[in-house]
Amino acid sequence: MERKFPHLFSPLRVGNVYFKNRILSAPMAYPDITPEGYLTPEAAAFFELRARGGAAVVPISECIVHAETGKSHNINICLDAPNVLPGLAITASAIKRHGAIASAELNHGGKYSGADNIDKSKNVKNIRYGPSADVLDNGAVIQEMPREMIHMLVEQYGKGAALVKKAGFEMILLHAGHGWLLQQFFSPAHNRRTDEYGGSLENRARLTLEVLDAIRAAVGPDFPIEIRISAEEHHEGGYTLSDAIELAKLVDDKVDLIQVSTGSHEGSFDKTHQPMFVPRGGLVHYAAEVKKHVKKPVAAIGALNDPYMMEEIIASGKVDAVVLGRALLADPYLPQKAMMGREEEIVHCLRCFTCMGERMATGLRICAVNPIIGREYESNFAPAPTEPKKVLIAGGGPAGMQCAITAARRGHEVILCEKAGELGGALRCERAIPFKQDLVRYISTKALEMKNTGVDVRLGTEVTPELVESIKPDVLVIAVGAEPIIPPIPGIDSPNVVVANNLSDPETKIGQRVVVLGGGQVGCEAAIHLAQEGRDATVVEMLPGVAVDANGRQRPILLDMLKKLVTVKTGLKGTRITDEGLVCADKSGNEVLLPADTIICAVGQKPLRSVVEGLLNSAPRVVEVGDCVKPQRITEATFRGHYAALDI
Ligand SMILES: Cc1cc2nc3c(=O)[nH]c(=O)nc-3n(C[C@H](O)[C@H](O)[C@H](O)COP(=O)(O)OP(=O)(O)OC[C@H]3O[C@@H](n4cnc5c(N)ncnc54)[C@H](O)[C@@H]3O)c2cc1C
Ligand SMILES: Cc1cc2nc3c(=O)[nH]c(=O)nc-3n(C[C@H](O)[C@H](O)[C@H](O)COP(=O)(O)O)c2cc1C
Ligand code: SF4
Repeated sequence: MERKFPHLFSPLRVGNVYFKNRILSAPMAYPDITPEGYLTPEAAAFFELRARGGAAVVPISECIVHAETGKSHNINICLDAPNVLPGLAITASAIKRHGAIASAELNHGGKYSGADNIDKSKNVKNIRYGPSADVLDNGAVIQEMPREMIHMLVEQYGKGAALVKKAGFEMILLHAGHGWLLQQFFSPAHNRRTDEYGGSLENRARLTLEVLDAIRAAVGPDFPIEIRISAEEHHEGGYTLSDAIELAKLVDDKVDLIQVSTGSHEGSFDKTHQPMFVPRGGLVHYAAEVKKHVKKPVAAIGALNDPYMMEEIIASGKVDAVVLGRALLADPYLPQKAMMGREEEIVHCLRCFTCMGERMATGLRICAVNPIIGREYESNFAPAPTEPKKVLIAGGGPAGMQCAITAARRGHEVILCEKAGELGGALRCERAIPFKQDLVRYISTKALEMKNTGVDVRLGTEVTPELVESIKPDVLVIAVGAEPIIPPIPGIDSPNVVVANNLSDPETKIGQRVVVLGGGQVGCEAAIHLAQEGRDATVVEMLPGVAVDANGRQRPILLDMLKKLVTVKTGLKGTRITDEGLVCADKSGNEVLLPADTIICAVGQKPLRSVVEGLLNSAPRVVEVGDCVKPQRITEATFRGHYAALDI
């Protein structure tokens, strides 16, 4: 049979192994491991899921070769911890049993090691070593790494490689990018040494080359070694692509695959992790450039998730393989779906950074659109339904749709009624915003998933007690969502006011000067969108800061976009709306007019309690999910919808 994406699904020989296709999982750490640095069954299940979904290679990530000096995060896999081997072996086996190559990423954090790396408010007084002495912004003092220590670490890399090979891993991924130890040595901005490890480009590359030699000596010839490099550092004094190409040429004979990412440790998070505001595939040009200068296969990374785009990248010879991070959290089965030519079923990553923000906030790994992430292990034991039930779901937003899909998969008879003429709930509010198109696509993917799982979807159908009575479900799931809060200020009903929920309605007219009332994430994103369309946009917020509801990874990116495009006014309360614009009061009660043609009202949502309460006694068992309980985000709606269905 002819495959839709023949190049993406052609094997690739790397060292002594064959990749079954060209889709590699990016290294993504699983934080819920033991404090000693041992992998847990939960961690093994996290990595296993991507193998099960069809990725050719699945690496475990950031295995630290010398824990005392090199932990890049407060919790890492520590290869020198006494009892790390069994967890490694279990995880390697879990990956391999699905036909994926089990790889292990080796790393050392260098000057950015230490617990305060994650939480900058902590000032842990461990001694840190980098290529050169330094003082970090948070006051941490970095010592120049003595040569004896460099030699010791080279040995540690070799020992680490030998250990993971012994555990059953079939490939090494050497992390020489993202600003960790090896990149610090290669970086002219960080490395000011005068010995053989500093100065010329060759000297700055020396540590990486010695580490590769130590790894090769430990694993033997042909054992595949992949190196991950950053194409650029994106900070003052940092190296650029031409230096990265030289590095690639120097390592070419010592590695079997070169993965080209970009970025450094400080200040380039949004370069390494391409946000929703930039097109997908924005880093491929780096890898394509490197490929022109080396013999070994080259892999590209960077917000890739569209099989058509990935096929083109490989078919055109730009690179030999693609590496996917967030795309495989959102949908670990992306490779399998693409292989079968069912790409429209792929659930796309929203680039919302919930996965990374949640780790900062609670230490958990989750995904906004995949309720299984972080719960892979327990999901292996999801209860089977004892007897199929008739389930009626009121509301076709993310909570209702996810609940319907999970319930139908478990064998229940599911009817989903949506009052509006289309699915998506509050997500429909975003359909005109170009950088939110993955959200819009999410609606159609979920609609297709419902069709494929046999959910009976009834659009334009309001669930009322009478309708419930006629359908007679065993379980009624209320997922009716929320409605916008309209502040009771004079003029709020004027024609120059648009509620943020209606921003994407075709009939909505927006003027040139816009003031957004409410500086939460929704208001900020609306302002960015309107500014990108060429309007003068101002955000007004009562609190001292804006986008405070955005997660810790997304917020700095939003603030940066706002700084470039939008006027932000905090500490101002909107008091009335006139034909001229929004009148605000500061803390002292002084009034100021912010001239505007249109005022966007984005002050939040409130649950549709009257609808919920009207339905509460209409079926034997009633469950409430999503924004109708408490307005939150897709993450919570999806999660709650899924688990409510597991409870049935
Ligand atoms: C403008 C805006 C932008 C947002 N942007 C983001 C974002 O970028 N990222 C993010 O994570 N979250 C975002 N959110 C929040 C997110 O959309 C919600 O948390 C999520 O949609 C809640 O899902 P839900 O299914 O509970 O409710 P909803 O999405 O509100 O869906 C409820 C559905 O129930 C239907 N309904 C109501 N009554 C009945 C009835 N009686 N019978 C049948 N159907 C009924 C409604 O028509 C609606 O379609 C945004 C919210 C808004 C308002
Ligand atoms: C949840 C998460 C965890 C990550 N953990 C690691 C890690 O442990 N080691 C690493 O080298 N990169 C890590 N990264 C970076 C990814 O490997 C990848 O470079 C980045 O996500 C860009 O790829 P993407 O656009 O396909 O997501 C992580 C990324 C994410 C989203
Ligand atoms: S949490 Fe958001 S950014 Fe992370 S993988 Fe899921 S959808 Fe993508």
